[in-house]
Amino acid sequence: MLTLNFTKFPNLETERLILREHKLSDADILFAMRTNETVMKYIDRERPKDLLEIKTFITAFNEGFEKGDNLAWVIALKENPEHMIGSIGYWRTDYANHRAEIGYMLDPNYWRKGITAEALIKTIAFGFEEMNLHTIKANINTGNNASRKMLVKHGFVKEAYFKQDYYFRGQFLDSEIYRLLNPNH
Ligand SMILES: CC(C)(COP(=O)(O)OP(=O)(O)OC[C@H]1O[C@@H](n2cnc3c(N)ncnc32)[C@H](O)[C@@H]1OP(=O)(O)O)[C@@H](O)C(=O)NCCC(=O)NCCS
Repeated sequence: MLTLNFTKFPNLETERLILREHKLSDADILFAMRTNETVMKYIDRERPKDLLEIKTFITAFNEGFEKGDNLAWVIALKENPEHMIGSIGYWRTDYANHRAEIGYMLDPNYWRKGITAEALIKTIAFGFEEMNLHTIKANINTGNNASRKMLVKHGFVKEAYFKQDYYFRGQFLDSEIYRLLNPNH
């Protein structure tokens, strides 16, 4: 049975990081991140208009967790757990096929320090061992070399290249799909 509805939010810990639930107090940082064109360069989604939209987004995410639809962690350094530096999580859960899609982003001040990789290793283990996922999927903009390299480095395999797959800001954009299968199944 695929499990996403835990009774309590599953906070996780790695050597340097705390992975915790989103709070409304993260809104300012999340807004800054989701309107930062360096971060959003390959994330083809409309940017939030204002803080209210971000707060609604956080509430929807937390309700989504309660309903078992998604599971998204704030990434924070252990020495400052209240200060969000990024996020990572599962969404687009496909219960019938035990599959969820992983997504992540990090504040550019912290890039290239292995932080997302550290969070990714932990969330993959959690996805396979605790959620009982069979497949973890990732969907990237084909220009996103950093994300592609990270996925491949962690065992993800390219599954598909969809030509003109989705419509964003007047254009049909290609996407690449990666997958990681549960090695214990
Ligand atoms: C993708 C992203 C999360 C990587 O975060 P990060 O913490 O800097 O990545 P890490 O330091 O953990 O790097 C892990 C591996 O990813 C790859 N990688 C990360 N950034 C890279 C870059 N700029 N160029 C090439 N490879 C990169 C490397 O293989 C790296 O391993 P290495 O350092 O041993 O070579 C970050 O660049 C980001 O937030 N980008 C914007 C948001 C985004 O595009 N999210 C993904 C949507 S699908």
